[in-house]
Amino acid sequence: MPKKNKDTVRLEWSSRERARPGEGPDLLYLYKKELVLPLPAASSSRPGPHAPAVPPATGRLIRGDNLCAVEALLREGPGKNAELIYIDPPFLSKADYTHKITIQGHTINRRAYGDRWSREGYLDMLAPRLALMRELLTDTGKLFVHCDWRASGLIRILLDEVFGHGNFINEIVWHYGGRGAKATSGQFARNHDTILVYGRSPKARLNKIYTERLLSEKEARANGIRKDPDGRYFKTAPRGDYTDESIRRLEKEGRIHRTRSGKVRIKYFLEARGDKVVEQRPVGDVWIDIPDAMHSPLKERTDYGTQKPVALLKRIIESATVAGDLVCDLFGGSGTTAVAAASLGRRWISVEAGGAGTQVAKNRLAEIIKNPFTVEGLKDDTDKAAASTPSPIAPEEARLIIGPPLIKKNQDKSYAVELTLKGYEPGKKSSEDLPGKLLKAPLSLIDSWAIDWDYDAVLFRSMWRSSRGAGKDAGEVELKACATLKKKPSRICVRAVDIMGVEKEMEVGV
Ligand SMILES: C[S@@+](CC[C@H](N)C(=O)[O-])C[C@H]1O[C@@H](n2cnc3c(N)ncnc32)[C@H](O)[C@@H]1O
Repeated sequence: MPKKNKDTVRLEWSSRERARPGEGPDLLYLYKKELVLPLPAASSSRPGPHAPAVPPATGRLIRGDNLCAVEALLREGPGKNAELIYIDPPFLSKADYTHKITIQGHTINRRAYGDRWSREGYLDMLAPRLALMRELLTDTGKLFVHCDWRASGLIRILLDEVFGHGNFINEIVWHYGGRGAKATSGQFARNHDTILVYGRSPKARLNKIYTERLLSEKEARANGIRKDPDGRYFKTAPRGDYTDESIRRLEKEGRIHRTRSGKVRIKYFLEARGDKVVEQRPVGDVWIDIPDAMHSPLKERTDYGTQKPVALLKRIIESATVAGDLVCDLFGGSGTTAVAAASLGRRWISVEAGGAGTQVAKNRLAEIIKNPFTVEGLKDDTDKAAASTPSPIAPEEARLIIGPPLIKKNQDKSYAVELTLKGYEPGKKSSEDLPGKLLKAPLSLIDSWAIDWDYDAVLFRSMWRSSRGAGKDAGEVELKACATLKKKPSRICVRAVDIMGVEKEMEVGV
């Protein structure tokens, strides 16, 4: 924490003394439950020396309370290696959130997490976590905290205290669309979120980000864009601090425009794309061009209650990091930050306490990854956040029925393997919770299943997988799995998870 000076303002609340940093349970460590491999390498039809090498894992999806997870991460190494931490914690909204599952015309609302804190309890939860997050940042690292009118004032004061008032960088207003309080309710519609940005030190800087607008020739003219005799579009700006010498150099480069009254202005050329002119504008601290997740592209929607749009996270990541940097989201939810980070070539860590969020995130990430990622848990995890999410039904109660593997030797000495998922018995609790009609087609309850064709009884490597998909696109998993393998499989392991989060693992005799 930065050195206190007389100018420090401190937030007080009745239970504050309980919330000291670093008081999480000791000796929790992270262990790998699964390594998710990109599909082309996994079910390769070109086994042997021609098979593409598996790239190293660049992502970690961690299930558990973030206080314990950050402590465990800090214990793993010297810390200070995240260039960006983005958090989207509960908003103090006094509501519960669900993941909406649409299946065979039915809608099931699986509980995701609760946000029913008192103000004191909320601050008790957040304060020690913010202090610990600071330890995870590089010297140039940045923390983005996503909140809204309910807690932004409280969080701003906490952040001033933890990071130092001088390390405040921005307060971003994200206006997400027309949603908000009705005009009749005696207030302006509340339709923006606030994202507070702090640096670990004064060395923290954001990259300049530009947005593009495509203008017709007429619109370009109306926006002060002209065309020079060579047909190039340009805008002009006053000469500002340019010296006479610089003006002479710019003159030679054809970048000086003289007004009718003889004033010198600097020309900035714009790109033409087809019959349009591309205008680039630097992004400021009010963002009105990114709609909320409900209006994001259909293929992006997971129906996880508080999902944020990938476009929002891409902008944040591009403003704070470069390719190869580490991006962490410690209230990861449906994995939006990880999805955006992976698609921009950043390394990522996403921590989520709830089963529903972790499951959605894993399926989403498995669809897009080019590099493997690990799914990890916390050993001896006794944290309350994880405990407050519904625990899965005892796996013993559920039963997977897998047909015997069909194995054939190919002419090139590789092996063609085929495995069929024949049935599923969901167990007593699912049977009580789910509509009877769904239980008549229990295979449709499988959310995803994966196969390790060469199980080493230590780490499950998901080499083949199928998932029912998300949101309105959701269907059913493929029931037949095929692969071509370099050597005859001796130990095959199957893992399946149903829509309620019940996991079932079994080895298949070869
Ligand atoms: C507002 S949501 C984040 C949504 C996310 N940005 C997305 O796009 O899906 C907050 C998430 O934090 C999780 N959460 C709450 N307390 C937590 C804790 N102590 N540790 C880890 N995750 C937690 C909740 O389960 C929930 O998924």
